[in-house]
Amino acid sequence: MVENGQNKLMRASKCIYVFFLTMLLSACNHGIPPQTDLEMDKQRPFTKEDPASISLMKPTTPLPQKPLRDFPYLRGINIGNALEAPEPGSWGVTIREEYFDEINKAGFNSVRLPVRFSAHIGSAPKYKIEADFLKLIDNNIQVALSNNLIIILDVHHFTELMENPEKEKEKFLSIWRQLSEHYQYAPPQLFFDLLNEPEKSLDSKRWNEMVSEVIPIIRMTNPTRKIIVGGVDYSTINSLELLQLPADDNLIAAFHFYSPFEFTHQGADWVQGSDLWQNTTWTGTTAEKEIIQKDLDLALSWSIQNNIPVVMSEFGVIKKADNLSRLRWIQYLTQEASRRDIGWVYWDFCAEFGIYNCESQTWDRELLSALLSNQQLE
Ligand code: BGC
Repeated sequence: MVENGQNKLMRASKCIYVFFLTMLLSACNHGIPPQTDLEMDKQRPFTKEDPASISLMKPTTPLPQKPLRDFPYLRGINIGNALEAPEPGSWGVTIREEYFDEINKAGFNSVRLPVRFSAHIGSAPKYKIEADFLKLIDNNIQVALSNNLIIILDVHHFTELMENPEKEKEKFLSIWRQLSEHYQYAPPQLFFDLLNEPEKSLDSKRWNEMVSEVIPIIRMTNPTRKIIVGGVDYSTINSLELLQLPADDNLIAAFHFYSPFEFTHQGADWVQGSDLWQNTTWTGTTAEKEIIQKDLDLALSWSIQNNIPVVMSEFGVIKKADNLSRLRWIQYLTQEASRRDIGWVYWDFCAEFGIYNCESQTWDRELLSALLSNQQLE
């Protein structure tokens, strides 16, 4: 890999940043037994391509450090409003094969595919996923993989489960049993994302129980597949604290980031009262930036303390917001996420928050570069 000066500078500042955060955390962790060099090497915060970090990290012997896992840094995009609509296409986005090529060529390395499986299953006790629907999903997965993209398959808009977790649990388990069997031989670039934004009656106790039941089901057929798990309350950063994950080296915790909500969701027709937020700007004041930094620090400390990687699997600004503010927020957030080694998946491709125009088949070049400049490239 050839690194330019800017990349080197970014990497160096990231090392220093994580070093200081680690020092800070160490103050609260005196009780932790010292680690051997070997253990430390396994948990080194920066991956093999970043030898500069090693000398910085070595002196901090007994500290919990950012997990080193075989987990790529995600720069992805959610293809929203397509397969999680009540019927494919009914929210105006129909996925075309060429989109995956466009996404790859633009510089993303991953795609999250939200799917409303719960609208395409038969009756109890099998809750069989409709064969034609599954074929459609297969096709999208295959095309994404053949375009060199990681594809995150996400069970999305399972509203019945949120409202009635006990009654609907079997459906959820059955969907994952079927998907696991069906995709057990798929390449490791297919990731599973258990459930989008658990909320309402699916509280943390119930969600943690469900996670502890569904993961062993998936593991029966997919022993090492990456599984992404978000917390309750719409997977906010604060909900990471409530998440209890089983010991498993291939789990990734996710959070969604739409803060300040009044800015990112101004005029969103699915958010009551959001008309009043129209014209909210984000100018990047020190106070505005500090909010983002503090939130991302929380996610990073959770990741370090729990030794589990985190990913920001949704974030974005509605197109109704003023363009300059959108640009600033997107650029600042992705830059700060990257400094903390937190991968991200933008919401969304060509719908309300989109950065691509599916009719003219063109990117919003400024937003694209706001997203992808300053990013880790392998
Ligand atoms: C929802 C979308 C919504 C987006 C931003 C997603 O999780 O599924 O419907 O547009 O969040 O609010």
